[in-house]
Amino acid sequence: MSITAAITAVGGYVPDYILTNKELETMVETNDQWIRERTGIAERRILKTEGWATSDMAVEAAKDLMAKSGTKAEDIDLIIVATVSPDFVYPATANIVAHKLGAPQAWGFDLEAACSGFLYALQTGTQFIKAGTHKKVLIIGADMMSARVDYTDRNTCILFGDGAGAVLLEPNEDGLGIQDAILKSDGEGATLLFQRAGGSMNPSTVENVQDGGHYIYQEGKSVFKKAVTGMADVSFEIMEKNGLTADDIAYLVPHQANKRIIDATAKRAGLPEEKVMININKYGNTTAGTIPLCLWEWEDKLKKGDNLILAAFGGGFTWGSVYLKWAYER
Ligand code: UT7
Repeated sequence: MSITAAITAVGGYVPDYILTNKELETMVETNDQWIRERTGIAERRILKTEGWATSDMAVEAAKDLMAKSGTKAEDIDLIIVATVSPDFVYPATANIVAHKLGAPQAWGFDLEAACSGFLYALQTGTQFIKAGTHKKVLIIGADMMSARVDYTDRNTCILFGDGAGAVLLEPNEDGLGIQDAILKSDGEGATLLFQRAGGSMNPSTVENVQDGGHYIYQEGKSVFKKAVTGMADVSFEIMEKNGLTADDIAYLVPHQANKRIIDATAKRAGLPEEKVMININKYGNTTAGTIPLCLWEWEDKLKKGDNLILAAFGGGFTWGSVYLKWAYER
């Protein structure tokens, strides 16, 4: 049997500080009921540790994974960090993570695909394992969205939170692990969810800092319409392509942007709520962090051979789904 890439360990980190809907009510004109009904979010975590950034959350998630699995930093070959909130524009956060972890032998890079970043990174890492050139690949989805959010904009500040999740990919000879991936992108949606200034199109100026060009901008309704069909369709597509019905699936692992988008995806796949990983109520949208943070929370419930469908939709637009067979039990 040919080599597949399998997740062999999971780690996660969320900051201690809890930003509740009630606290947001004191910051912008909103209310707990509206936020819960329209998004499913009750609270989110915010990184307040002095001097910490995205790399520090990524490192904590990686350390958690390494402690649980007995993985040594010196054995890691490659680190891919999916993020839209890197520590710096350059160098890559992956370089900083390798240094802080004590893994100088590992090379790595950042991958920017917004909310689909973890799926893009997972599929990228899979290729290095299947090629036989790398044995231990660390895939991290980490975002400090609080560094990107305008806390006077009620359209976006209620949605996002900070957090990081990590998985280890290793070769598998029993046919377990990543089975298939369908990844898509459409740059036509680029300016519906983006950061207007600070890139080469609009280099930073005093004016565009002052008028909020460095904050997240989202046309919520337009993104919602695309996301609700995009994520549902691509989940259904990968199930159909692989001859899977709802009965074959142990869990749907959806990106956590809006509970209504998650529900629509589950409905299209014919999956009951108990087969859907949902933690948006606690963490909000942590962008590249949502899917690995779900795996982190559900890890103890997963059984060897379980079929999982991972699905995401996000800025870019980027979207996709991954079908995998879980490879271990804790
Ligand atoms: O993860 C990346 C991909 N992103 C997504 O998938 C997010 C997709 N979009 C969404 O999840 C939703 O569009 C939102 C949650 C962002 C907004 O929900 P919506 O149902 O699309 O609301 P809306 O923007 O159409 O606004 C409805 C009303 C408006 O008032 P009027 O014009 O009807 O009087 C808004 O001004 O709700 C108002 N509103 C709010 N009210 C209380 C907007 N934001 C808030 C708020 N609190 N925070």
